[in-house]
Amino acid sequence: MNEPHKVASAFAPASVGNVAIGFDILGFSVGAIGDRATVRMIPEPDVRVKAIRGVVADLPTEAAKNTAGRALQAMREALALPFGLELELDKGIPLASGLGGSAASAVAAVVAANAVLPQPCSKLELLKFAMQGEAVASGSLHVDNIAPSLYGGLVLTVGIDQPRVKQIPVPAAVRAVIVHPHMFLSTRQARAILKGSVEMKDFVWQTANLAGFISGCYTDDIDLLRESFEDVVIEPQRAALIPGFREVRRAAISAGALGCSISGAGPTLFAWCLESHALAVREAMVVEFSHHGLASDHWTTPIEALGARVID
Ligand code: HSE
Repeated sequence: MNEPHKVASAFAPASVGNVAIGFDILGFSVGAIGDRATVRMIPEPDVRVKAIRGVVADLPTEAAKNTAGRALQAMREALALPFGLELELDKGIPLASGLGGSAASAVAAVVAANAVLPQPCSKLELLKFAMQGEAVASGSLHVDNIAPSLYGGLVLTVGIDQPRVKQIPVPAAVRAVIVHPHMFLSTRQARAILKGSVEMKDFVWQTANLAGFISGCYTDDIDLLRESFEDVVIEPQRAALIPGFREVRRAAISAGALGCSISGAGPTLFAWCLESHALAVREAMVVEFSHHGLASDHWTTPIEALGARVID
């Protein structure tokens, strides 16, 4: 083997999927936390998960059942690599939190592996490999955590087989407040409860909100963002899974948030607000969760277009 690097590490940020109105297609990265993967080339033609450390340790170490391991298998198979890959994961994202932990592990793994390949892949190829990993965790192919974790910032992805990825500008004054209540919610479970059809009036409303939201981002129109920031399809179905959801949301809006919704499949909630309201919004959400017996972690961050990257 004459590859330049035999081992590399990469960091991939957490992410908020759906962003209220873009179920399975829109997400933004949260660089304050993330997962780290170290990938080493090995002579055995196999993918091995050597260690999993950090805030989550009891994940499957069988490669096919591990999101990052599965992503590396997809990469090996597609590229017909003559060598194997050994993976170590350092988890920074809590399990079943709705912050895109499975996606970040898969993304960090393929970005690290890419750095040891003799001929690196494009980002779009890495996206497809990571998607295979994400499917292990959620039981479905969706990209709204994978794409922002890989590319960074607010990211729209159109298409699954041939995904088109668009990084969308976010008004500079906007801050994201992320509040993670200490409970688990499985993505599979939160997807399984969703109805298979949408009423026409909800379809129209949701479509208008998604279009308004994207337009508001491109035109720096804060009022349009506020008006469009409402999920009338998915959120009402999932609200009951998160204790105090409606009260926390109401508290965030009363404190000045432009909008507040479920991060991915939950239980983490997120709000967007102007920087001047960020402290009050965060306090309101944390206090309201505590009224429902839930302690929480929180992060306040601008939405930066900084995705996964090699760190060693
Ligand atoms: N869009 C997905 C969902 C994100 O809401 O089910 C879960 O990771």
